[in-house]
Amino acid sequence: MRKPIKAVLVGTAAAALLAPCTINAFAHEDHGRGSRDAQADTLGALGLRADVRIGTAVDMAALADDEPYRAKAASEFSSVTPENVMKWEVVEPNRGQYDWKEADKLVDFARVNGQLVRGHTLLWHNQLPAWLTTGDFTADELRAILRKHITDEARHFKGRIWQWDVVNEVFNDDGTLRDSIWLQKLGPGYIADAFRWAHAADPKAKLFINDYNIEGVNAKSTALYNLVVKLRKQRVPIDGVGIQGHLSVQYNAPHDIAENMKRFDDLGLETAITEADVRVPMPSDSTKQEAQAEGYDVLLRGCLLTRKCTDFTVWGFTDKYSWVPDTFEGEGAANLFDEDYKAKPAYSALRDDLLLAAGRN
Ligand code: G3I
Repeated sequence: MRKPIKAVLVGTAAAALLAPCTINAFAHEDHGRGSRDAQADTLGALGLRADVRIGTAVDMAALADDEPYRAKAASEFSSVTPENVMKWEVVEPNRGQYDWKEADKLVDFARVNGQLVRGHTLLWHNQLPAWLTTGDFTADELRAILRKHITDEARHFKGRIWQWDVVNEVFNDDGTLRDSIWLQKLGPGYIADAFRWAHAADPKAKLFINDYNIEGVNAKSTALYNLVVKLRKQRVPIDGVGIQGHLSVQYNAPHDIAENMKRFDDLGLETAITEADVRVPMPSDSTKQEAQAEGYDVLLRGCLLTRKCTDFTVWGFTDKYSWVPDTFEGEGAANLFDEDYKAKPAYSALRDDLLLAAGRN
């Protein structure tokens, strides 16, 4: 667990983090990369000195085909998350028939590079295989299918997953539970069951609930907080809360993130920023990149100011392979590096924060 670093961050830009303000562009020093030991000055290495893992989601096709991508994924980060290859539609495309090939490649890649793995995700309403979404199962059948899937996947990776996103995106923005097939057929108890089954299959993995738009204090994050309080009272084995961190420069950064994350810290829960990216209206420019840097800065400072925030993961690190353009028309360039792997001001912003938190300027 991180030593209290408020002494380091107080009186610096951390105060700005807590002050309400819109995203504004302010320049970050452009840090040359000519450091004594480039490896020692990677985000991953700096993060470890600040007791936090800096990770990235990994696109397996890029990892296989793009050498600069593979090199950066191996060297810059101390944890990795499969962007897609541990999702239900990939690992169990046909009922009871598993395909672990791509997921095992990532776990092996992480082992070779001394990285921890965030498993993503055992239970979601999206990227489910057709046999599951089109099957007309009874509630008992669906519950048995879900239990078997969670058990089989958590068992397959037993001892090799640091943190699991056990359930992903179960809330609506108004704080009600998402009306997925899981809620419709199994009722709200499916969430507690998922954690119990995952824990039984891999008792050492840390088990997280993960969602987006819960960065600040709002109806959704408060509903998630209230659920976690209830689950803890029921002695459900839940260890942490994953805050995805998908931001846009078109909206204010969540300057109350530290206040929000402290709520979970006070419950004794771990937290993580699990999918950070900050999209901009295209074409990007230097002003938008500075505003983007502010968004990443706010997210990382929220983590660094939270004692049990264990991980800050970006959802991909280069604009060359981002999910954003296919999802948000007219927006993109959301990552730390551009399509030619040139670092943006956001990279320097994260590096500055980590140097500060590690007690070095
Ligand atoms: O695998 C098929 C391929 O066979 C086919 O040729 C191709 C073209 O249709 O599609 C491929 O599937 C795509 C899949 O990514 C794998 O690349 C899907 O179309 C595409 O929709 C899917 O997008 C993923 C998205 O989740 C799905 O909702 C993104 O890559 C991924 O970054 C994104 O990640 C989610 C997190 O899991 C949860 N939090 C939100 C985040 C962003 O949506």
